[in-house]
Amino acid sequence: MIDFDISIQINPKLAANLNHSIMEVKDLKDTSLAQNPVIGQMMLHNHEQILFCNDNATGLKAIIAVHNTVLGPSLGGTRMWNYNNEMEALTDVLRLSRGMTYKSSVAGINLGGGKAVIIGDAKKLKSEALLRRFGKFVNSLGGKYITAEDVAMSSRDMEIIKMETDYVSGLPVNMGGSGDPSPVTAYGVYVSMKASAKEVFGTDNLAGKKVLVQGIGNVGMHLVEHLTKEGAKVYVYDITEERIKMAVDTYKAEFVAADKMFDLDIDIYAPCALGATVNDETLSKLKCKIICGAANNQLADEKKHGELVMSKGILYAPDFVVNAGGIINVYYELDGYNRERALAHAEKIYDTTWNIIQTAKAQNIPTYAAANKIAEQRIESIARINAVM
Ligand SMILES: NC(=O)c1ccc[n+]([C@@H]2O[C@H](COP(=O)([O-])OP(=O)(O)OC[C@H]3O[C@@H](n4cnc5c(N)ncnc54)[C@H](O)[C@@H]3O)[C@@H](O)[C@H]2O)c1
Repeated sequence: MIDFDISIQINPKLAANLNHSIMEVKDLKDTSLAQNPVIGQMMLHNHEQILFCNDNATGLKAIIAVHNTVLGPSLGGTRMWNYNNEMEALTDVLRLSRGMTYKSSVAGINLGGGKAVIIGDAKKLKSEALLRRFGKFVNSLGGKYITAEDVAMSSRDMEIIKMETDYVSGLPVNMGGSGDPSPVTAYGVYVSMKASAKEVFGTDNLAGKKVLVQGIGNVGMHLVEHLTKEGAKVYVYDITEERIKMAVDTYKAEFVAADKMFDLDIDIYAPCALGATVNDETLSKLKCKIICGAANNQLADEKKHGELVMSKGILYAPDFVVNAGGIINVYYELDGYNRERALAHAEKIYDTTWNIIQTAKAQNIPTYAAANKIAEQRIESIARINAVM
């Protein structure tokens, strides 16, 4: 059984000044989450609103979480997953929506953080009726939450949801949408890697640098293209043979086996597959100077491994800063998509990465903590403006 007995901290300075602080605010008398499993969890990170959705006819059971709307409407994908229980689904949607607030804030776009989960096995439960019913729930929030694709959801599913609401993004190009975000995401990863290289090697030229790209899917393959064009020596690993063949044949990348990957003598590790690959085991082997890739939640334990990476002298470019090209791409869909504008904004990830590295150095804190601070400061400053208008 999960122990929810977590005490909730109050930050008096922020609580006094802000209505919308995303910091830990508050004053719940009974701090046990077992007694306050819903609003108690919301209070931990000051979530604004949760919409619980049920429809017996279609089997829809969903939770939409709006974490913070100071910067703009909350935007984040809908994930369909066969959670073991409601608490697991609730915890996931609260965590993911909060992550979106930080990602959009640090990317400098006017979006807040939100996320939705549909509970159930997509293969068995997903239907047009269920998706349209979900679309009606999204619509009922009046634009406070805008949905997009996530795990087990496709662009076709977004088209169906769009039948019931305009608050959908990530639509195909032929529907006026932004289409596949991965080229913009990969470009953001590439420029972030250059900014990291400038700090570590004194130059942002990646020619001759040895880079391991783990996961050569949509984002990873575009990244391999940028890197090889610049003259980097690229090693690749993927669980899919055809992706390996494509990277080797097209870009002359070198394949490395799973059990050799983390023993390589490399300059940069780019995780572009799954999360949590920066962990106790890999960190005991990794010889790189920089970690910079597209995958979400790369640090198995943000605090522990963020600090461990720092103490080992490895520069970690925070994942939610590095991979913000995806949300930037969707942002530019909201008032008429223009890929040039999206790419121009993604290019700013270079400066954002650089500023985070300098802040972390100046304050002697891990880079993930510096990124969180910068994201919070932007929201706090805009909340102050909102308060006087
Ligand atoms: N697509 C985007 O725009 C975007 C935006 C932000 C974050 N991300 C994140 O970046 C990562 C990659 O996204 P994508 O769109 O390229 O996904 P994708 O599904 O196209 O590619 C993932 C690749 O990783 C491979 N893979 C899976 N498990 C692996 C393992 N254990 N070891 C090595 N390779 C493995 C798969 O075979 C696949 O080729 C994901 O974590 C995603 O959440 C993507």
